[in-house]
Amino acid sequence: MLVSAAEMLKKAKAGHYAVGQFNINNLEWTKAVLTTAQECNSPVILGVSAGAGKYMAGFKVVADMVKAMIESLNITVPVAIHLDHGTYEDCYKCIKAGFSSIMFDGSHYPIEENIAKTQELVNVAHALGLSIEAEVGSIGGEEDGVVGAGECADPKECKLIADLGVDMLAAGIGNIHGKYPENWKGLSFETLDAVQQLTGEMPLVLHGGTGIPAEMIQKAISLGVSKINVNTECQLSFTAATRAYIEAGKDLSGKGFDPRKVLAPGYEAIKATVKEKMELFGSVGKA
Ligand code: 13P
Repeated sequence: MLVSAAEMLKKAKAGHYAVGQFNINNLEWTKAVLTTAQECNSPVILGVSAGAGKYMAGFKVVADMVKAMIESLNITVPVAIHLDHGTYEDCYKCIKAGFSSIMFDGSHYPIEENIAKTQELVNVAHALGLSIEAEVGSIGGEEDGVVGAGECADPKECKLIADLGVDMLAAGIGNIHGKYPENWKGLSFETLDAVQQLTGEMPLVLHGGTGIPAEMIQKAISLGVSKINVNTECQLSFTAATRAYIEAGKDLSGKGFDPRKVLAPGYEAIKATVKEKMELFGSVGKA
């Protein structure tokens, strides 16, 4: 069932668990995430970056594929299709393409400009029934060409953006996209706590979910995180399983070269990662 992310995140915040956002790259990825969500009876958010949208031939192709798959696979759990780290222009493209949720990442603008653009997009998104995520304090690392410095957000700026009526707020708390470096200092729970004190009921978003130790994830959820984004970890699982298939020479035996066979171990690996995350985030059985 395609829905905006607003209700599922309100429920998650009240129920002290988090909904996973899993970024998708192709049909196999989408099917793996949707079927796992259904099997786990869990709400889910499909994240689509601008790069992934372009790869899949455009945002409309993605939205139409997801909708058709929800229908043909009879997916009854709540599913949101969400633009990840959108520019102002991409937000409008995704609204037009039929997404149910958008993220406007104005974290690199001066706060006044971030506020003005976020406010405009909140009004447009809500008038059309979409949910919207905003960001304060850039997330570190690089994802599909979006590079962030990894700063901790100013809690007062978070409050200003939260008051614009966004449905979820990503605040930088020392998190980084991709693998964490050896010398990573960990999440700043002090920042997270200060943000939650000021923003109250607002569901908070933790980007860079890959590689954050389970105890830190649980503590972040206890401090108001209701949405956790995972991208790299599914890519790592998919590629490791595909590598094992090729290295074992399975593509060279019988019909092992059939792309549906080549992609099957990676598909199962994505499913296992998504299930593990849903269990860790506490969203299993919460559809
Ligand atoms: P990872 O790739 O580190 O899991 O981050 C995902 C993310 O935050 C998507 O916005």
